[in-house]
Amino acid sequence: MADQFRDHRPSGDVRDRRGFLAGFLALACGGLATLAPLAAGLWAFLDPLRRKRGAASFLPVTELSAVPADGVPRQFAVIAERVDAWTGFAAEPIGAVYLRREKGSDTVEALSATCPHAGCFVEIEPTGRCFRCPCHSSEFTLDGGIVAPSPSPRPMDALECRVAKNGEIEVQWQKFRAGVAGKVVQ
Ligand code: FES
Repeated sequence: MADQFRDHRPSGDVRDRRGFLAGFLALACGGLATLAPLAAGLWAFLDPLRRKRGAASFLPVTELSAVPADGVPRQFAVIAERVDAWTGFAAEPIGAVYLRREKGSDTVEALSATCPHAGCFVEIEPTGRCFRCPCHSSEFTLDGGIVAPSPSPRPMDALECRVAKNGEIEVQWQKFRAGVAGKVVQ
């Protein structure tokens, strides 16, 4: 009979633990609800920096038909939308390349027009025999090879290049460190 009147209410200890758990869960849920949008905002904020460090993308430069298969390099501007940290700019020239196809070939070769010696702009010699840099007279063969002796520590920088389905030539535009023998991406 005494069992009938036993107090089945949780003890003070159990009530305390339940209260603590409920409080902890409420705090955790509130924290998550606050942190999720914050994390998303931070991710968006850092996005341009992430993209800047990413792999160089292929940029359309010209049509395949604009590069005759005669072994003569042609110069083209590389145009891209520049992103400076969090500011986007309209498309503008960011560099130049020489594109060339061997006689009768569909394969396009691309060379950066930036001199590997100190970054001047390499030109085709008036005779069309070779490239020459106007700054310190480094000379390069038409396929970019170095003509010794030369102030330039390495040949002209070859760039990855492909022809898209629509016939556009796309170049993987990259800048390399000047004045060093190795081809080091900047
Ligand atoms: S920058 Fe081209 S030779 Fe010096």
